[in-house]
This record gives sequence, C-alpha cells and structure tokens, in this order.
Amino acid sequence: ARVSVRGALGVQSANGERVKVQGWIRSIRSQKEVLFLHVNDGSSLESLQVVADSSFDSRELAFGSSVEVQGQLVKSPSKKQNVELKAEKIEVVGSCDAKAFPFKYKERHPLEYLRQYPHLRCRTNVLGSVLRVRSEATAAIHSFFKDSGFVHIHTPVITSNDCEGAGELFQVEPSSKIKVPEENFFNIPVFLTVSGQLHLEVMSGAFTQVFTFGPTFRAENSQSRRHLAEFYMVEAEISFLESLQDLMQVMESLFKTTAMTVLSNCPKDVELCHKFLAPGQKDRLEHMLKNNFLIISYTEAVEILKQASQNFTFTPEWGADLHTEHEKYLVKHCGDIPVFVINYPLVLKPFYMRDNEDGPQHTVAAVDLLVPGVGELFGGSLREERYHLLEQRLARLGLTEAYQWYLDLRRFGSVPHGGFGMGFERYLQCILGIDNIKDVIPFPRFTHSCLL
Ligand code: 4AD
Ligand code: MG
Repeated sequence: ARVSVRGALGVQSANGERVKVQGWIRSIRSQKEVLFLHVNDGSSLESLQVVADSSFDSRELAFGSSVEVQGQLVKSPSKKQNVELKAEKIEVVGSCDAKAFPFKYKERHPLEYLRQYPHLRCRTNVLGSVLRVRSEATAAIHSFFKDSGFVHIHTPVITSNDCEGAGELFQVEPSSKIKVPEENFFNIPVFLTVSGQLHLEVMSGAFTQVFTFGPTFRAENSQSRRHLAEFYMVEAEISFLESLQDLMQVMESLFKTTAMTVLSNCPKDVELCHKFLAPGQKDRLEHMLKNNFLIISYTEAVEILKQASQNFTFTPEWGADLHTEHEKYLVKHCGDIPVFVINYPLVLKPFYMRDNEDGPQHTVAAVDLLVPGVGELFGGSLREERYHLLEQRLARLGLTEAYQWYLDLRRFGSVPHGGFGMGFERYLQCILGIDNIKDVIPFPRFTHSCLL
C-alpha cells in the first residue's frame, strides 16, 4: 500500500508491513555495506529513513531526485526514529543534477537566497515548515469562525470601490487582444479589492456574523518587511455590536485560539522556525498568549510618544499617523504585550468609521492592534450606522452617488455593527518570528517583483 512519510513515521510498532513511499531525497549516505536515504514528501518536517544494501545502483540517487521506494517498514535500531523502511526496490522517478540544483546538500541557505527560487524553495525544511504552518493556521481560522457561529462569505476580488479610500488600487482591464463591443468591459473603472469589508457589511445585514478570508491587493510602493502587493486578509463583520470592547474581545480571541491550535497541531514545524530563525520567539509568543492584551487610546499613545520624542525620526503629534518606529516603541513600552490603540482622529481614517462626536479633538471608534516584532496586525472599527451622519461624511468626500447602496444599508433596517481585518502574513510573522513578510507567503508579489 502507498503511504505518506507522515503515515509511515506514525506507525507505532512496525512489523515488516510492505509499503510504497514516494518523495524526494533529502540526504544520502553510503557506508560499506549499507546505503541510507532520507525521503521527504512534505507531509511532515521529518523524513523517512530508507535503508538499502549497497548493491543498489546509487548513481542516480542524488540529493533532490524523486524516488519511489518499496519495502518493509521495520522498527529502527536508531534512537532517532521509530521506524525505517528496508528497501526492496528503489526507483528513481526523476533524477536531479546536483551541480545545477540551487540547493546544496547539508547547507543551510539564508532566506534571502531561497527567495530567488519560489519554484523550488518549498522543498527546503524551513519553507516546508512555514507553509505547513500556513495551511494549519488557515484551517484553524476557519474553525474558529465556524465554532463561533459566523457565516463564511466569498467577497469579490474585482470591485469598483476603494474601501480604504487611500487610492492604492490596481486597475483591472481586459488584455488589449480582447475585442469588447463597448470601449470598456465593465462600463466603469474596476479594481482588485483592497478589502472585503463593504461587501461583508452587506452580508452582516442578513447573517449577523460573517467573515471572509481571501487575497487583497494594494499598490503600495513599499519594499518594507511587512508590505506585499498581494496579501491575504481575514475579515469579520458583526451586527448588533455594542462597543469596541466587544470587538476587541473577538480579535484577541481569534489570535489566541488559533495560535494555540497551530502550536498544538504542528509543534515541530513551529519549533524549527523558532530555533533557526528567531531564537527567543517561543518565550515571546508564550508571553503574548498568556497575558491580556492592553488597551490605550490614540491620545494616550501620542502622549507616551511625545515623552520619548528624541528617539524618533518622525515627531509624534496629535492628528498624525503613527509611524512604524512609533508602533514599535509603544509595544516595547507595553512590555511586549500586544496593545489595542483606539479612538483615532476622524481626519486620519476612512469614511465608514463611527463618529465618537467628542468635540474639538474629533475621533472615530477605530481600533488597531499592535504586536511585537510586526507592528500593526489588525485594523478595525465600529461602522457609522446612522444615516444622516454617514450621508454628511460621504457628501463632504463627494462620494454620495457612488455609495447609494451603502447608504441603503442605513435606510433599511440599520444596526450598530463593526468589524476588523487581520493581515494573515503578518499574523504568521508574529507567531513564527519571521522578519520578512516575503518568507511567509508561497509566491510573494511586491514592487518590481512578480516571479512566476
Ligand atoms: O488596516 P487595514 O487597511 O484595514 C482594512 O482594510 C479594513 N477595511 C479591514 C476591516 O475592517 N474589515 O488592513 C488590515 C490589515 C492591517 O492591519 C495589516 O495587518 C494588513 O491588513 N495589511 C497588509 N499586510 C501586508 N501587506 C500590506 N500591504 C498590507 N496592508 C494592510
Ligand atoms: Mg490599518
């Protein structure tokens, strides 16, 4: 029977069962009488040890080649593994020219080097672990929402609106080879979505609690360690929500519950990342998971920053955006515990955020979660559900006509509601301690780079 490497390694007491294993050679070692191969198929971090007698023709058995091995699963004499495969037949499926292969046996290549080979780096231990964690985290996030009674919504990738109003849009047009009867395929300019929020708001008006988890796109001209042009966002929208506190509870619980699931479902993959890429990260993560997240207002945050303004390139000032250096300082100041910053100036935030109507220092019910090592991980808010206030905001921005449908949501059975978006790659960076966002997504897209 064909078994995965994970399946084979999971056999508790191997008794010579005949199996077939397929995978790629991760290491090869030949002694006088025996040949040891390690075969990995991506099902786990560990490889299966294959033992063959040296009469096997090993010329084609190179590091990186794909093989099919048939033999008997037996108890291993070594303490390193439970089980090994005593080979009866080894077939090279695809050979590998070791000289041309960009990865060398027994060498630990830096992440920057691996990044040049998005088509091959998934075969290394470290990217293998990261991408298995990514898959596990995706499942954990879906379970979290399902268990909390949220309905999953597929929000569109192509849209005509700019949810965040920041103008960081990729415009979508058919290729010039396509003959469209009119001059424009959709009749109006359309873009890749920057956020599914507005569509989720529509759906929260019917299903009460909804979420989406898909790709979002931003034409951000940034080479930073935490920005991509295409990234995945986890977004939730909740109707009948009474306060920012209630929203923050969901955010904190999403982070903690799913992180614990990931830690218990793939401990070895997480450990590998922590050990080789981020010493000390295990403790930092535990510290985040066992403490209650903190809450400070934007106004308090600016006061804290002003006390330390000699440390910054950008002078902290009420009414200005927080820079990365400010976010980092705030998290340190909070003892490396994630901190919610709430109630930002109205002028800094998009049109949909709920007005706090609090006088001259005019704020909205916004919330960002800042986390160690990454900075902003979540952005969210209560939404303006009051028709007349929303209408005034939209009118001032000249958006009334385009957002008639959005105003309708406030005309027909409006409810207090709110939601958030969590950058999925930043979440993985925060859990694994990975410095560069390009290393937690299979195929990174950023300014001047779209390999494959
Ligand atoms: O703070 P943002 O812009 O919020 C929104 O888009 C809201 N409409 C979400 C909502 O309320 N439904 O983005 C949310 C998160 C950020 O906190 C950050 O983690 C991540 O998305 N993010 C990026 N991640 C990688 N690359 C980029 N260019 C990102 N821009 C935002
Ligand atoms: Mg934000």
